[in-house]
Amino acid sequence: MKKKLIQAIAAANKDASPNRTALDTTEDELYKTLANNLQLGVYIAVDKRLQFTNFHLQEYTGYSRTEMMDMDPLDLVHPEDRDRTVTDAVHMLKGLRFSPYEYRLISKDGQVRWILETVVPIMFKGKKAVLGNSIDITEYKSAKMSLQEFDALKASILDAIPQAVVGLENRRINFANTAVEEVFGWKPEELIGKSVTLFYRNEKEAEQIGSHFYSTLEHQRTFVSEFNCRRKDGRDILCRMRSARIGEALKQRRIVITYEDITDQRMAEQELANSREKLRNLSLHLQSVREKESTRIAREIHDELGQSLTALQMDLAWLSVSIPQAGPALTAKIQRMKNVVDSTIESVHRISTELRPILLDDLGLIAAMEWQVGEFQERTHIPCDSRFDLKESIVEKDLATAIFRIFQETLTNIVRHAHATHVRVRLLQKGNELRLDVSDNGIGITEKDIDNPASFGLVGIRERVNPWGGTVDITGKPYKGTKVGVRIPIRSGRKT
Ligand SMILES: Nc1ncnc2c1ncn2[C@@H]1O[C@H](COP(=O)(O)OP(=O)(O)O)[C@@H](O)[C@H]1O
Ligand SMILES: [Mg+2]
Repeated sequence: MKKKLIQAIAAANKDASPNRTALDTTEDELYKTLANNLQLGVYIAVDKRLQFTNFHLQEYTGYSRTEMMDMDPLDLVHPEDRDRTVTDAVHMLKGLRFSPYEYRLISKDGQVRWILETVVPIMFKGKKAVLGNSIDITEYKSAKMSLQEFDALKASILDAIPQAVVGLENRRINFANTAVEEVFGWKPEELIGKSVTLFYRNEKEAEQIGSHFYSTLEHQRTFVSEFNCRRKDGRDILCRMRSARIGEALKQRRIVITYEDITDQRMAEQELANSREKLRNLSLHLQSVREKESTRIAREIHDELGQSLTALQMDLAWLSVSIPQAGPALTAKIQRMKNVVDSTIESVHRISTELRPILLDDLGLIAAMEWQVGEFQERTHIPCDSRFDLKESIVEKDLATAIFRIFQETLTNIVRHAHATHVRVRLLQKGNELRLDVSDNGIGITEKDIDNPASFGLVGIRERVNPWGGTVDITGKPYKGTKVGVRIPIRSGRKT
Protein backbone atom coordinates (compact mmCIF):
# COMPACT_ATOMS: atom_id res chain seq x y z
CA MET A 1 0.00 0.00 0.00
CA LYS A 2 2.76 2.32 0.97
CA LYS A 3 4.71 1.58 -2.16
CA LYS A 4 1.70 2.31 -4.30
CA LEU A 5 1.16 5.53 -2.51
CA ILE A 6 4.71 6.64 -2.98
CA GLN A 7 4.50 5.69 -6.62
CA ALA A 8 1.27 7.60 -6.92
CA ILE A 9 2.77 10.63 -5.28
CA ALA A 10 5.89 10.41 -7.38
CA ALA A 11 3.78 9.93 -10.51
CA ALA A 12 1.58 12.80 -9.55
CA ASN A 13 4.68 14.84 -9.03
CA LYS A 14 6.14 13.90 -12.42
CA ASP A 15 2.88 14.43 -14.26
CA ALA A 16 2.36 17.72 -12.62
CA SER A 17 3.33 20.41 -14.97
CA PRO A 18 5.05 23.45 -13.53
CA ASN A 19 1.64 25.00 -14.07
CA ARG A 20 0.45 26.02 -10.63
CA THR A 21 -3.22 25.29 -11.14
CA ALA A 22 -2.65 21.73 -12.29
CA LEU A 23 -0.40 21.13 -9.30
CA ASP A 24 -2.96 22.51 -6.93
CA THR A 25 -5.68 20.22 -8.25
CA THR A 26 -3.50 17.18 -7.65
CA GLU A 27 -2.61 18.60 -4.32
CA ASP A 28 -6.21 18.89 -3.25
CA GLU A 29 -6.92 15.31 -4.15
CA LEU A 30 -3.76 14.25 -2.46
CA TYR A 31 -4.73 16.07 0.71
CA LYS A 32 -8.04 14.34 0.79
CA THR A 33 -6.56 10.90 0.30
CA LEU A 34 -3.85 11.49 2.82
CA ALA A 35 -6.05 12.94 5.43
CA ASN A 36 -8.89 10.48 5.19
CA ASN A 37 -7.74 7.10 4.08
CA LEU A 38 -4.22 6.40 5.13
CA GLN A 39 -3.04 4.39 8.05
CA LEU A 40 0.33 6.02 7.49
CA GLY A 41 1.78 9.12 9.00
CA VAL A 42 2.36 11.55 6.15
CA TYR A 43 4.10 14.87 6.15
CA ILE A 44 5.39 17.39 3.71
CA ALA A 45 8.36 19.53 4.65
CA VAL A 46 9.73 22.48 2.79
CA ASP A 47 13.14 23.83 3.83
CA LYS A 48 13.12 21.57 6.88
CA ARG A 49 9.82 23.03 8.02
CA LEU A 50 6.68 20.94 8.25
CA GLN A 51 3.99 22.32 5.98
CA PHE A 52 1.56 19.48 6.12
CA THR A 53 0.86 16.66 8.58
CA ASN A 54 -1.97 14.17 8.34
CA PHE A 55 -4.17 12.96 11.14
CA HIS A 56 -2.33 9.71 11.71
CA LEU A 57 0.97 11.47 12.19
CA GLN A 58 -0.65 13.88 14.63
CA GLU A 59 -2.01 10.88 16.46
CA TYR A 60 1.25 9.11 17.13
CA THR A 61 3.40 12.19 17.67
CA GLY A 62 0.82 13.67 20.03
CA TYR A 63 1.19 17.12 18.44
CA SER A 64 -1.66 18.94 16.74
CA ARG A 65 -1.51 20.15 13.16
CA THR A 66 -0.91 23.72 14.22
CA GLU A 67 1.75 22.74 16.75
CA MET A 68 3.67 20.91 14.08
CA MET A 69 3.34 23.64 11.48
CA ASP A 70 6.81 25.01 10.69
CA MET A 71 8.44 22.56 13.07
CA ASP A 72 11.71 20.96 11.92
CA PRO A 73 10.79 17.29 11.44
CA LEU A 74 14.17 16.38 12.93
CA ASP A 75 13.02 17.83 16.26
CA LEU A 76 10.66 14.91 16.55
CA VAL A 77 13.50 12.39 16.22
CA HIS A 78 15.29 10.91 19.21
CA PRO A 79 18.54 12.89 19.60
CA GLU A 80 20.66 9.75 19.35
CA ASP A 81 19.05 8.81 16.05
CA ARG A 82 19.15 12.23 14.37
CA ASP A 83 22.46 11.97 12.50
CA ARG A 84 21.71 8.54 11.16
CA THR A 85 18.19 9.51 10.17
CA VAL A 86 19.44 12.56 8.26
CA THR A 87 21.95 10.39 6.39
CA ASP A 88 19.32 7.75 5.60
CA ALA A 89 16.81 10.34 4.44
CA VAL A 90 19.36 12.16 2.26
CA HIS A 91 20.43 8.88 0.67
CA MET A 92 16.87 8.07 -0.08
CA LEU A 93 16.12 11.45 -1.52
CA LYS A 94 19.16 11.11 -3.77
CA GLY A 95 17.97 7.70 -4.94
CA LEU A 96 20.92 5.97 -3.23
CA ARG A 97 18.70 4.00 -0.90
CA PHE A 98 15.43 2.27 -1.50
CA SER A 99 14.52 0.46 1.68
CA PRO A 100 12.74 2.28 4.47
CA TYR A 101 14.78 3.32 7.50
CA GLU A 102 13.96 3.16 11.18
CA TYR A 103 14.35 5.72 13.90
CA ARG A 104 12.98 6.52 17.31
CA LEU A 105 10.58 9.40 17.66
CA ILE A 106 9.85 11.23 20.89
CA SER A 107 6.16 12.00 21.17
CA LYS A 108 4.82 15.14 22.82
CA ASP A 109 4.26 13.29 26.10
CA GLY A 110 7.84 11.97 26.03
CA GLN A 111 7.08 8.42 24.81
CA VAL A 112 9.62 6.74 22.57
CA ARG A 113 8.05 5.30 19.43
CA TRP A 114 9.72 3.31 16.68
CA ILE A 115 9.05 4.68 13.20
CA LEU A 116 9.68 3.11 9.81
CA GLU A 117 9.91 5.79 7.17
CA THR A 118 10.45 6.55 3.51
CA VAL A 119 10.95 9.98 1.95
CA VAL A 120 10.54 11.13 -1.57
CA PRO A 121 11.26 14.55 -3.16
CA ILE A 122 8.22 16.34 -4.50
CA MET A 123 7.24 19.79 -5.58
CA PHE A 124 4.89 21.49 -3.17
CA LYS A 125 3.31 24.78 -3.97
CA GLY A 126 6.02 25.32 -6.49
CA LYS A 127 8.82 24.58 -4.08
CA LYS A 128 11.10 21.59 -3.69
CA ALA A 129 9.71 19.62 -0.84
CA VAL A 130 10.04 16.28 0.97
CA LEU A 131 7.11 13.93 1.31
CA GLY A 132 7.54 11.57 4.23
CA ASN A 133 5.60 8.37 4.87
CA SER A 134 5.94 6.66 8.15
CA ILE A 135 4.51 3.79 10.12
CA ASP A 136 4.55 3.41 13.88
CA ILE A 137 6.19 0.02 14.41
CA THR A 138 6.62 0.30 18.18
CA GLU A 139 4.42 -2.66 18.99
CA TYR A 140 5.94 -4.87 16.35
CA LYS A 141 9.39 -3.83 17.56
CA SER A 142 8.69 -4.64 21.18
CA ALA A 143 7.20 -7.98 20.17
CA LYS A 144 10.33 -8.69 18.18
CA MET A 145 12.50 -7.53 21.01
CA SER A 146 10.76 -9.68 23.54
CA LEU A 147 11.16 -12.56 21.13
CA GLN A 148 14.87 -11.87 20.99
CA GLU A 149 14.95 -11.55 24.74
CA PHE A 150 13.09 -14.79 25.01
CA ASP A 151 15.59 -16.50 22.75
CA ALA A 152 18.44 -15.09 24.81
CA LEU A 153 16.71 -16.22 27.97
CA LYS A 154 16.17 -19.67 26.53
CA ALA A 155 19.84 -19.91 25.59
CA SER A 156 20.99 -18.79 29.02
CA ILE A 157 18.63 -21.18 30.77
CA LEU A 158 19.93 -24.03 28.66
CA ASP A 159 23.48 -23.03 29.46
CA ALA A 160 22.73 -22.77 33.16
CA ILE A 161 21.40 -26.34 33.32
CA PRO A 162 24.01 -28.74 34.68
CA GLN A 163 22.67 -31.55 32.50
CA ALA A 164 23.77 -31.96 28.91
CA VAL A 165 20.90 -30.98 26.62
CA VAL A 166 20.85 -31.98 22.96
CA GLY A 167 18.29 -31.62 20.23
CA LEU A 168 18.04 -34.46 17.71
CA GLU A 169 16.55 -34.78 14.30
CA ASN A 170 16.72 -38.27 12.88
CA ARG A 171 19.33 -39.11 15.48
CA ARG A 172 21.60 -36.28 14.35
CA ILE A 173 22.47 -33.59 16.84
CA ASN A 174 21.26 -30.17 15.79
CA PHE A 175 21.60 -28.45 19.10
CA ALA A 176 23.78 -28.86 22.21
CA ASN A 177 24.16 -26.72 25.31
CA THR A 178 27.47 -25.92 27.03
CA ALA A 179 27.05 -28.59 29.71
CA VAL A 180 27.67 -31.33 27.13
CA GLU A 181 31.32 -30.52 27.60
CA GLU A 182 31.20 -31.26 31.30
CA VAL A 183 29.13 -34.40 30.95
CA PHE A 184 30.66 -35.87 27.78
CA GLY A 185 33.86 -33.91 27.16
CA TRP A 186 32.64 -32.76 23.73
CA LYS A 187 32.39 -29.10 22.84
CA PRO A 188 28.88 -28.17 21.65
CA GLU A 189 30.16 -27.09 18.24
CA GLU A 190 31.93 -30.43 17.71
CA LEU A 191 28.59 -32.19 17.99
CA ILE A 192 26.37 -30.36 15.55
CA GLY A 193 25.44 -32.64 12.66
CA LYS A 194 26.99 -35.71 14.30
CA SER A 195 25.09 -38.88 15.12
CA VAL A 196 24.08 -39.18 18.76
CA THR A 197 25.72 -42.63 18.69
CA LEU A 198 28.95 -41.02 19.85
CA PHE A 199 27.45 -40.65 23.34
CA TYR A 200 27.06 -44.40 23.69
CA ARG A 201 29.38 -47.33 24.26
CA ASN A 202 28.88 -49.07 20.95
CA GLU A 203 26.67 -49.20 17.87
CA LYS A 204 24.54 -52.00 19.24
CA GLU A 205 23.70 -50.22 22.47
CA ALA A 206 23.12 -46.97 20.60
CA GLU A 207 20.69 -48.83 18.39
CA GLN A 208 18.87 -50.31 21.39
CA ILE A 209 18.66 -46.99 23.21
CA GLY A 210 17.46 -45.24 20.06
CA SER A 211 14.71 -47.71 19.27
CA HIS A 212 13.66 -47.77 22.93
CA PHE A 213 13.40 -43.99 22.99
CA TYR A 214 11.63 -43.57 19.70
CA SER A 215 9.14 -46.36 20.29
CA THR A 216 8.27 -44.96 23.73
CA LEU A 217 7.98 -41.40 22.47
CA GLU A 218 5.56 -42.56 19.80
CA HIS A 219 2.86 -42.87 22.42
CA GLN A 220 4.05 -40.61 25.23
CA ARG A 221 5.45 -37.16 25.22
CA THR A 222 8.27 -37.50 27.73
CA PHE A 223 10.20 -40.34 29.19
CA VAL A 224 13.00 -41.00 31.73
CA SER A 225 15.46 -43.83 31.79
CA GLU A 226 19.00 -44.77 32.78
CA PHE A 227 21.64 -45.92 30.35
CA ASN A 228 25.36 -46.41 30.15
CA CYS A 229 27.07 -43.73 28.11
CA ARG A 230 30.61 -43.04 27.03
CA ARG A 231 32.57 -39.81 27.23
CA LYS A 232 34.90 -38.42 24.59
CA ASP A 233 37.87 -39.60 26.68
CA GLY A 234 36.48 -43.17 26.66
CA ARG A 235 35.35 -43.18 30.27
CA ASP A 236 31.99 -44.83 30.83
CA ILE A 237 29.34 -43.04 32.84
CA LEU A 238 25.84 -43.87 33.96
CA CYS A 239 23.34 -41.29 32.78
CA ARG A 240 19.80 -40.52 33.73
CA MET A 241 18.25 -39.50 30.45
CA ARG A 242 15.05 -37.59 30.02
CA SER A 243 13.66 -37.15 26.58
CA ALA A 244 10.75 -35.33 25.08
CA ARG A 245 9.54 -35.25 21.53
CA ILE A 246 9.23 -31.88 19.87
CA GLY A 247 5.69 -31.23 18.75
CA GLU A 248 2.62 -33.38 18.92
CA ALA A 249 3.81 -36.22 16.76
CA LEU A 250 7.20 -37.79 16.28
CA LYS A 251 7.65 -36.22 12.88
CA GLN A 252 11.24 -36.17 11.54
CA ARG A 253 12.01 -37.93 14.80
CA ARG A 254 12.71 -34.61 16.48
CA ILE A 255 13.42 -34.98 20.17
CA VAL A 256 15.27 -33.28 23.00
CA ILE A 257 17.34 -35.34 25.42
CA THR A 258 18.97 -34.32 28.69
CA TYR A 259 21.77 -36.40 30.14
CA GLU A 260 22.61 -36.29 33.82
CA ASP A 261 25.74 -38.07 34.96
CA ILE A 262 24.62 -40.11 37.98
CA THR A 263 27.69 -42.33 38.23
CA ASP A 264 28.90 -40.83 41.52
CA GLN A 265 25.42 -40.62 42.93
CA ARG A 266 24.78 -44.27 42.16
CA MET A 267 28.11 -45.28 43.68
CA ALA A 268 27.41 -43.29 46.84
CA GLU A 269 23.97 -44.88 47.10
CA GLN A 270 25.49 -48.32 46.75
CA GLU A 271 28.17 -47.58 49.32
CA LEU A 272 25.55 -46.31 51.74
CA ALA A 273 23.40 -49.38 51.18
CA ASN A 274 26.45 -51.60 51.65
CA SER A 275 27.50 -49.96 54.87
CA ARG A 276 23.92 -50.10 56.18
CA GLU A 277 23.87 -53.75 55.33
CA LYS A 278 27.18 -54.27 57.11
CA LEU A 279 25.95 -52.45 60.20
CA ARG A 280 22.78 -54.47 60.21
CA ASN A 281 24.73 -57.71 59.93
CA LEU A 282 27.09 -56.62 62.65
CA SER A 283 24.27 -55.77 65.01
CA LEU A 284 22.61 -59.07 64.20
CA HIS A 285 25.85 -60.89 64.79
CA LEU A 286 26.48 -59.14 68.12
CA GLN A 287 23.00 -59.94 69.31
CA SER A 288 23.25 -63.56 68.36
CA VAL A 289 26.69 -63.82 70.00
CA ARG A 290 25.25 -62.30 73.15
CA GLU A 291 22.27 -64.60 73.10
CA LYS A 292 24.49 -67.65 72.63
CA GLU A 293 26.75 -66.53 75.44
CA SER A 294 23.78 -65.99 77.75
CA THR A 295 22.37 -69.37 76.85
CA ARG A 296 25.66 -71.06 77.59
CA ILE A 297 26.07 -69.33 80.96
CA ALA A 298 22.43 -69.94 81.82
CA ARG A 299 22.78 -73.64 81.07
CA GLU A 300 26.05 -73.88 82.96
CA ILE A 301 24.66 -72.15 86.05
CA HIS A 302 21.52 -74.19 85.85
CA ASP A 303 23.17 -77.53 85.29
CA GLU A 304 26.45 -77.27 87.22
CA LEU A 305 25.37 -75.13 90.15
CA GLY A 306 21.89 -76.64 90.17
CA GLN A 307 23.29 -80.17 90.42
CA SER A 308 25.80 -79.29 93.12
CA LEU A 309 23.16 -77.50 95.13
CA THR A 310 20.74 -80.38 94.79
CA ALA A 311 23.49 -82.71 95.97
CA LEU A 312 24.07 -80.41 98.96
CA GLN A 313 20.35 -80.38 99.66
CA MET A 314 20.24 -84.14 99.64
CA ASP A 315 23.32 -84.38 101.89
CA LEU A 316 21.74 -82.01 104.40
CA ALA A 317 18.56 -84.09 104.43
CA TRP A 318 20.70 -87.17 105.04
CA LEU A 319 22.59 -85.39 107.85
CA SER A 320 19.41 -84.38 109.64
CA VAL A 321 18.21 -87.96 109.81
CA SER A 322 21.66 -89.53 110.34
CA ILE A 323 22.38 -87.61 113.54
CA PRO A 324 19.30 -88.34 115.62
CA GLN A 325 20.88 -87.37 118.93
CA ALA A 326 22.06 -84.03 117.71
CA GLY A 327 21.36 -81.26 120.10
CA PRO A 328 18.87 -78.51 119.28
CA ALA A 329 21.75 -76.16 118.31
CA LEU A 330 22.98 -78.55 115.63
CA THR A 331 19.46 -79.26 114.40
CA ALA A 332 18.82 -75.53 114.07
CA LYS A 333 22.14 -75.09 112.24
CA ILE A 334 21.27 -77.84 109.78
CA GLN A 335 17.86 -76.28 109.20
CA ARG A 336 19.45 -72.86 108.49
CA MET A 337 21.84 -74.48 106.01
CA LYS A 338 18.87 -76.19 104.33
CA ASN A 339 17.13 -72.83 104.04
CA VAL A 340 20.21 -71.14 102.54
CA VAL A 341 20.60 -73.93 100.02
CA ASP A 342 16.90 -73.74 99.11
CA SER A 343 16.99 -70.00 98.49
CA THR A 344 20.27 -70.34 96.61
CA ILE A 345 18.65 -72.92 94.34
CA GLU A 346 15.85 -70.47 93.76
CA SER A 347 18.28 -67.64 92.98
CA VAL A 348 20.24 -69.80 90.58
CA HIS A 349 17.04 -70.72 88.85
CA ARG A 350 15.96 -67.10 88.62
CA ILE A 351 19.32 -65.88 87.41
CA SER A 352 19.60 -68.54 84.76
CA THR A 353 16.05 -67.92 83.59
CA GLU A 354 16.69 -64.22 83.34
CA LEU A 355 19.82 -64.82 81.35
CA ARG A 356 17.96 -66.97 78.92
CA PRO A 357 14.50 -68.32 79.58
CA ILE A 358 14.94 -71.96 78.82
CA LEU A 359 11.21 -71.91 78.22
CA LEU A 360 11.79 -69.91 75.05
CA ASP A 361 13.95 -72.65 73.62
CA ASP A 362 11.95 -75.52 75.00
CA LEU A 363 8.32 -74.41 74.85
CA GLY A 364 8.36 -71.49 72.45
CA LEU A 365 7.61 -67.79 72.32
CA ILE A 366 4.08 -67.73 73.68
CA ALA A 367 4.89 -69.92 76.68
CA ALA A 368 7.90 -67.73 77.45
CA MET A 369 5.86 -64.54 77.17
CA GLU A 370 3.10 -65.96 79.33
CA TRP A 371 5.66 -66.90 81.93
CA GLN A 372 7.12 -63.36 81.73
CA VAL A 373 3.65 -61.84 82.23
CA GLY A 374 3.15 -64.05 85.30
CA GLU A 375 6.52 -63.01 86.71
CA PHE A 376 5.70 -59.36 86.07
CA GLN A 377 2.32 -59.50 87.83
CA GLU A 378 3.77 -61.36 90.76
CA ARG A 379 6.60 -58.90 91.17
CA THR A 380 4.71 -55.63 90.58
CA HIS A 381 1.08 -56.50 91.37
CA ILE A 382 0.13 -54.56 88.24
CA PRO A 383 -2.62 -56.41 86.39
CA CYS A 384 -1.63 -57.36 82.87
CA ASP A 385 -4.22 -58.17 80.25
CA SER A 386 -2.52 -60.31 77.65
CA ARG A 387 -3.58 -62.08 74.51
CA PHE A 388 -1.47 -64.19 72.20
CA ASP A 389 -2.91 -65.24 68.91
CA LEU A 390 -0.29 -66.56 66.59
CA LYS A 391 0.90 -69.71 64.89
CA GLU A 392 4.28 -70.26 66.46
CA SER A 393 5.60 -72.14 63.47
CA ILE A 394 5.78 -68.90 61.49
CA VAL A 395 8.19 -67.37 63.96
CA GLU A 396 11.71 -68.60 63.49
CA LYS A 397 13.98 -68.92 66.50
CA ASP A 398 15.98 -65.73 66.11
CA LEU A 399 12.81 -63.73 65.58
CA ALA A 400 11.25 -65.30 68.67
CA THR A 401 14.31 -64.22 70.66
CA ALA A 402 14.07 -60.69 69.26
CA ILE A 403 10.40 -60.38 70.15
CA PHE A 404 10.89 -61.82 73.58
CA ARG A 405 13.75 -59.41 74.34
CA ILE A 406 11.72 -56.46 73.06
CA PHE A 407 8.83 -57.55 75.25
CA GLN A 408 11.12 -57.81 78.29
CA GLU A 409 12.46 -54.30 77.67
CA THR A 410 8.96 -52.80 77.42
CA LEU A 411 7.93 -54.46 80.69
CA THR A 412 11.12 -53.33 82.42
CA ASN A 413 10.45 -49.77 81.25
CA ILE A 414 6.92 -49.93 82.62
CA VAL A 415 8.26 -51.06 86.01
CA ARG A 416 10.96 -48.42 86.04
CA HIS A 417 9.29 -45.37 84.49
CA ALA A 418 5.57 -45.61 83.85
CA HIS A 419 3.82 -45.55 87.26
CA ALA A 420 1.13 -47.59 85.57
CA THR A 421 -1.73 -49.45 87.17
CA HIS A 422 -2.63 -51.50 84.13
CA VAL A 423 -0.81 -53.08 81.23
CA ARG A 424 -2.14 -54.50 77.98
CA VAL A 425 -0.19 -56.93 75.80
CA ARG A 426 -1.12 -58.24 72.36
CA LEU A 427 0.85 -60.53 70.10
CA LEU A 428 -1.07 -61.22 66.91
CA GLN A 429 -0.69 -62.20 63.33
CA LYS A 430 -2.54 -59.88 60.99
CA GLY A 431 -2.26 -60.84 57.35
CA ASN A 432 1.41 -61.07 56.52
CA GLU A 433 2.38 -59.11 59.56
CA LEU A 434 3.31 -59.96 63.09
CA ARG A 435 2.22 -57.37 65.63
CA LEU A 436 3.34 -56.84 69.17
CA ASP A 437 1.57 -54.09 71.08
CA VAL A 438 2.38 -53.25 74.67
CA SER A 439 0.58 -50.34 76.28
CA ASP A 440 0.37 -48.97 79.79
CA ASN A 441 -1.73 -46.32 81.48
CA GLY A 442 1.18 -44.54 83.13
CA ILE A 443 2.67 -41.07 82.89
CA GLY A 444 3.43 -41.35 79.17
CA ILE A 445 6.79 -41.24 77.45
CA THR A 446 7.86 -37.84 76.07
CA GLU A 447 8.92 -37.03 72.48
CA LYS A 448 12.32 -36.13 73.83
CA ASP A 449 12.79 -39.57 75.32
CA ILE A 450 11.57 -41.22 72.13
CA ASP A 451 14.04 -39.31 69.93
CA ASN A 452 16.94 -39.33 72.35
CA PRO A 453 19.76 -41.37 70.82
CA ALA A 454 20.90 -42.11 74.38
CA SER A 455 17.66 -43.98 75.11
CA PHE A 456 19.57 -47.22 74.77
CA GLY A 457 16.65 -49.45 75.68
CA LEU A 458 14.55 -47.98 72.86
CA VAL A 459 17.50 -47.97 70.47
CA GLY A 460 17.94 -51.67 71.29
CA ILE A 461 14.30 -52.33 70.46
CA ARG A 462 14.70 -50.65 67.06
CA GLU A 463 17.91 -52.50 66.38
CA ARG A 464 16.29 -55.81 67.07
CA VAL A 465 13.46 -55.01 64.69
CA ASN A 466 15.65 -53.68 61.87
CA PRO A 467 17.06 -56.94 60.52
CA TRP A 468 13.53 -58.22 60.04
CA GLY A 469 12.50 -55.25 57.95
CA GLY A 470 10.00 -54.26 60.61
CA THR A 471 8.97 -50.98 62.23
CA VAL A 472 8.65 -49.69 65.77
CA ASP A 473 6.12 -47.05 66.69
CA ILE A 474 6.38 -45.53 70.15
CA THR A 475 3.84 -42.96 71.33
CA GLY A 476 3.14 -41.34 74.65
CA LYS A 477 0.36 -39.18 76.03
CA PRO A 478 0.94 -37.32 79.29
CA TYR A 479 -0.79 -39.17 82.13
CA LYS A 480 -2.63 -41.37 79.65
CA GLY A 481 0.17 -43.83 78.99
CA THR A 482 2.67 -45.21 76.55
CA LYS A 483 2.24 -47.50 73.59
CA VAL A 484 4.92 -49.52 71.86
CA GLY A 485 3.88 -51.09 68.57
CA VAL A 486 6.15 -53.45 66.66
CA ARG A 487 5.32 -54.62 63.14
CA ILE A 488 7.29 -57.34 61.41
CA PRO A 489 6.56 -58.73 57.96
CA ILE A 490 6.30 -62.50 57.96
CA ARG A 491 7.81 -64.79 55.37
CA SER A 492 9.59 -61.97 53.52
CA GLY A 493 12.47 -63.17 55.70
CA ARG A 494 15.51 -61.24 56.60
CA LYS A 495 16.36 -58.34 54.36
CA THR A 496 19.59 -58.88 52.53
N1 LIG B 1 6.48 -46.99 79.55
C1 LIG B 1 7.07 -45.79 79.76
N2 LIG B 1 6.42 -44.79 80.39
C2 LIG B 1 7.00 -43.60 80.60
N3 LIG B 1 8.25 -43.28 80.22
C3 LIG B 1 8.96 -44.22 79.59
C4 LIG B 1 8.42 -45.53 79.32
N4 LIG B 1 9.36 -46.23 78.65
C5 LIG B 1 10.42 -45.43 78.52
N5 LIG B 1 10.21 -44.22 79.08
C6 LIG B 1 11.12 -43.07 79.11
O1 LIG B 1 12.01 -43.20 78.03
C7 LIG B 1 13.35 -43.19 78.49
C8 LIG B 1 14.18 -44.09 77.64
O2 LIG B 1 13.89 -45.45 77.82
P1 LIG B 1 15.02 -46.52 77.63
O3 LIG B 1 15.67 -46.26 76.31
O4 LIG B 1 14.46 -47.86 77.83
O5 LIG B 1 16.09 -46.14 78.74
P2 LIG B 1 16.14 -46.54 80.27
O6 LIG B 1 15.01 -47.49 80.53
O7 LIG B 1 17.46 -47.19 80.42
O8 LIG B 1 16.02 -45.25 80.99
C9 LIG B 1 13.26 -43.61 79.92
O9 LIG B 1 14.34 -43.10 80.66
C10 LIG B 1 11.93 -43.02 80.35
O10 LIG B 1 12.09 -41.69 80.72
MG1 LIG C 1 14.72 -49.23 79.45
